[in-house]
Amino acid sequence: MASPSSSMIHRLLLALSVVSAAVLVSGHLSPEFYAAKCPNLRNIVRSAMAEAVRQNPRNAAFVLRLFFHDCFVNGCDASILLDGTAAFASEKFANPNNNSAHGFELIDAIKARVEAECPATVSCADVLALSAHDGVASLGGPTWTVQLGRRDSVAAYQAAANREIPAPFNDLSKLISLFRDKGLSPRDMTALSGGHTIGLAQCSNFAAHIYNDCNADPSFVASRRRICSPDGGGNLAPIDSETPFRFDNAYYRGLVARRGLLHSDQELLNGGSQDALVRQYSADGEAFAGDFAAAMVKMGALSPRPGTTGEVRLKCSKLN
Ligand code: HEM
Ligand SMILES: *[C@@H]1O[C@H](CO)[C@@H](O)[C@H](O)[C@H]1NC(C)=O
Repeated sequence: MASPSSSMIHRLLLALSVVSAAVLVSGHLSPEFYAAKCPNLRNIVRSAMAEAVRQNPRNAAFVLRLFFHDCFVNGCDASILLDGTAAFASEKFANPNNNSAHGFELIDAIKARVEAECPATVSCADVLALSAHDGVASLGGPTWTVQLGRRDSVAAYQAAANREIPAPFNDLSKLISLFRDKGLSPRDMTALSGGHTIGLAQCSNFAAHIYNDCNADPSFVASRRRICSPDGGGNLAPIDSETPFRFDNAYYRGLVARRGLLHSDQELLNGGSQDALVRQYSADGEAFAGDFAAAMVKMGALSPRPGTTGEVRLKCSKLN
């Protein structure tokens, strides 16, 4: 029976090579991607983020939001980090980011430290994914397995950023559909919105909510109106007013108390499909932490670029 079994082995090998080619084409991510090529990577990023968060805890919020805004535009490919060129406009100036997204210099600095130890090896997209994770963890949030092996884009997509990143004036059905377009469920959407347990927002993004909506707690409305006129402006308020720099479930307790800062925040608890989940997260920090971590892994896997396409940028703001 030697010949049938050798032909069987042959077919098996052929099938295996087809499967591994398919994995490469779909852009395979692994937590061990840099284990041999840059064994100290995790420590470099962790210590840089710890230092940055010690200097200013909002750095964790900046980087988490950058990662979200990167992944929602052409996948997690560091396209948000590029300055504009003659060939494309920068996402830094797209409506959701202009005068609002921060942390670019921090990611550039962490990338420079990585380049010093592991030249031309680690993508900016992976540096951002690791930094977002480490920032959340350093403010007491959950940890998760950070998948690695993303490639950097060779263009930016400003028009897509304007279309595909959710806005604070969106209602629940629009929020659900923008996340669904990325393969993320309403549950993922509600868990990921818990990113708003850290950081600040500008008056121009919450003025409409505190002046036009009637579903907010009156004493909360009164206190926010004191720092924010109907014309907007840049005055800042914490999105989670209870613990703005602790990564916990207080954001959801705020929603239950009708103290959501953005219209889009309070949409998650306003008599719709996500009410029960918001109430569950508000009462059960472990449930929130687990779902947030799982949804971050899912969001972090959005359209990874296949095997050798794109590039490993040397400087995150410039093409090689
Ligand atoms: C659900 C739809 C979402 C909408 C409509 C939204 C909108 C916003 C807006 C308008 C701000 C304030 C920006 C400013 O005033 O400059 C903000 C801040 C922030 N967002 Fe979101 N966001 C959403 C989801 C997310 C997700 C999924 C994450 C991360 C997992 C996230 C993380 C953050 C963080 C950390 C901040 C604070 C940044 C800072 O301190 O500057 N957001 N978001
Ligand atoms: C970004 O904001 C500035 C104002 O700070 C404005 O002058 C500029 O036109 C905005 N850019 C875009 C592309 O909208």
